[in-house]
Amino acid sequence: MKGAGIREVGGPVEEVDLPEPASLKSDEVLIEVQAAGVANWDDLVRTGAWDVGITPPMALGVEAAGTVRQVGAAVSRFEAGHQVLTHSAPLRHQGAWAERFVAPEAHVARKPVAMEITVAGAFGVPALTAYQVLAAMLNVQAGEAVLIHGAGGVTGGMLAAVAAAMGARVIAVAGARNKERLKQFGATAVLDRDSSWQQAAKRLADGAFPAVVNAVRGATASVLPLVADNGRLATITGDPPASERGIRIGNVYVTADGYALERLAADFANRGLTLPVAAVVGLAQGSSALAEAVAGSPGVVVIDPRQA
Ligand SMILES: NC(=O)c1ccc[n+]([C@@H]2O[C@H](COP(=O)([O-])OP(=O)(O)OC[C@H]3O[C@@H](n4cnc5c(N)ncnc54)[C@H](OP(=O)(O)O)[C@@H]3O)[C@@H](O)[C@H]2O)c1
Repeated sequence: MKGAGIREVGGPVEEVDLPEPASLKSDEVLIEVQAAGVANWDDLVRTGAWDVGITPPMALGVEAAGTVRQVGAAVSRFEAGHQVLTHSAPLRHQGAWAERFVAPEAHVARKPVAMEITVAGAFGVPALTAYQVLAAMLNVQAGEAVLIHGAGGVTGGMLAAVAAAMGARVIAVAGARNKERLKQFGATAVLDRDSSWQQAAKRLADGAFPAVVNAVRGATASVLPLVADNGRLATITGDPPASERGIRIGNVYVTADGYALERLAADFANRGLTLPVAAVVGLAQGSSALAEAVAGSPGVVVIDPRQA
């Protein structure tokens, strides 16, 4: 089958010929890929900074949506023809930027009918990251004020959407172009990241926040002063500062979870929400798609392997 990926760690993204998935293990689902998310974390896989369990030559990509073609003997939640989405790592066969993708049933979710396939293909990592930060690490409570720094990104926006769904009072810091979308996602206030937003944020939280999330690379230390004494701070950019004032600091990395993903996708679609789509390209454009995602695209970037 055809894919887009690397021939060596650190090498350029190219079209690659890959072996077809062999016979499925009993817990595996074979998905005909219609959309696979391209995002900045794929560059971590390309450069060897994120080990997803396989070695080059390999397709990149850790999230996808498409149609189930075949299931292993022990799979009970899916059958051929179901529309699904997944974030899966470690990888079972190849990355998701390929015609077919194999994932264990436990990493797979039913796609809501109302969710566009392109959106579903790029939903897995951002949604699961947001949920794992807000529910597992921060244990956000209804009515609590939560600051989301970097809410303009795809994962940043999902943090705002999931926090709002948990009943939090969401204060989002983002570029002005994202304001309307974040309000629609349920943010109480959206502060322009190019203003002196820290003063406004403090006013909105009576001085400091019980819970803060950073989604801007290298910026976690800069938001520490906004966290209340004995509060909680989560980063998804791998840069936790040393703790002070009794603050609990979490450095969160996404974990595959098809059951949580199914609930998150259903909730997002039921709220009538969607993600902006910046680009849908074929496998031959994998390299430029990754460059666009790394540069910070105004929405999700997706590979559709059926496109020329
Ligand atoms: N740990 C994990 O498991 C995990 C999971 C997912 C993502 N991540 C990481 O989290 C980060 C964000 O992911 P993403 O999907 O949201 O990225 P993204 O879609 O590429 O968005 C990045 C956004 O950050 C905003 N930004 C940049 N500099 C900023 C600043 N100084 N202040 C406020 N906002 C700023 C920009 O938004 P504006 O348009 O508002 O300017 C930009 O669009 C990435 O580094 C990613 O690798 C980690």
